[in-house]
Amino acid sequence: MAIASRDRSRSILGAMSQGSERGYWYFLRVSGVLLVFLALGHIFITHYANVPSETTFDFVSARWANPLWRMFDWMLLLAALWHGLIGIRISITDYLPGPLWKQVAYALAWIVGLIFSVVGSITIITFNEEMSRNNSGPLSGDLWIADVLGALLYVIAVGTYLGIIALAIWVIRDFQAGRAPVYRGDPGQYAFVFHKAAGIGILFFLIIHIVDIMLIGLGRDVYDKSVNFYGQPFLVPMEILLVGALLYHSFNGLRIIAVDFTTSGSFRQRKMFWVVLIAAVVLTIPSAIMIIAKEIF
Ligand code: HEM
Repeated sequence: MAIASRDRSRSILGAMSQGSERGYWYFLRVSGVLLVFLALGHIFITHYANVPSETTFDFVSARWANPLWRMFDWMLLLAALWHGLIGIRISITDYLPGPLWKQVAYALAWIVGLIFSVVGSITIITFNEEMSRNNSGPLSGDLWIADVLGALLYVIAVGTYLGIIALAIWVIRDFQAGRAPVYRGDPGQYAFVFHKAAGIGILFFLIIHIVDIMLIGLGRDVYDKSVNFYGQPFLVPMEILLVGALLYHSFNGLRIIAVDFTTSGSFRQRKMFWVVLIAAVVLTIPSAIMIIAKEIF
């Protein structure tokens, strides 16, 4: 009962929160539903039907020859970027000390959003296949740019792997101390921690991914060199975790929306959490098999 009333209060909180906060609350839910189609559709193409290192210049330019796919990728860019940046406000509000740091972080999120919206939109809308294929654009010969991006992917991968090790240590320590793991070990708290970690993790990967796609405008060679990094064994676990994180965050996002907008949702939230978790793990397996088979063997 306690859990149901807390989630109920959250939807009332959302409805009652003032002005922009209420707008952000609804934006996260509407953009979330849109992203179920855009982001899961995208991850199916790049991590099930193909694997990340196959998303080469030829693969992307063939897709972008069709304006509908350009529109799809443009909507995905804007929805994922702004959903993630509005979402990260929750952590800024909850965890950053003092109003000054909060305001600085809010402003930074807006600046990042505007810069990456413009850069990403220019890349998708102005893509000139012939110029890029001939590597005749500015910076097209600077292949070191791809190495810098590859290094950033390694940094994200190391951060992800260390984060998972830290979470495992947290759980083991709690067990050793005879405590329920992760706060009081309540499914609602697991759902909260995993949802936040998955959302923030996907957002950081997304920022690097937008820079990576931007390289296609510079030239085929620099872009294909950056895509080659996705085939490196050290990054493969991160790619599989990305699929799992997106599946979990999406399904749990739908669970949150069901709790917010339906009465039955509040009472079924515990059962729904286990369904969400099991579905995310089970549906990640085929992608993991594909990626390991193609990238490792
Ligand atoms: C590219 C994909 C996505 C990214 C980068 C992303 C990122 C984020 C981030 C960073 C948060 C804040 C998490 C927190 O601090 O609690 C968040 C919240 C949220 N996300 Fe996503 N998300 C994505 C896709 C989705 C999808 C597909 C849904 C499906 C409905 C969704 C539903 C939600 C909801 C409902 C919240 C608000 C949770 C709350 O109010 O506590 N997200 N997202």
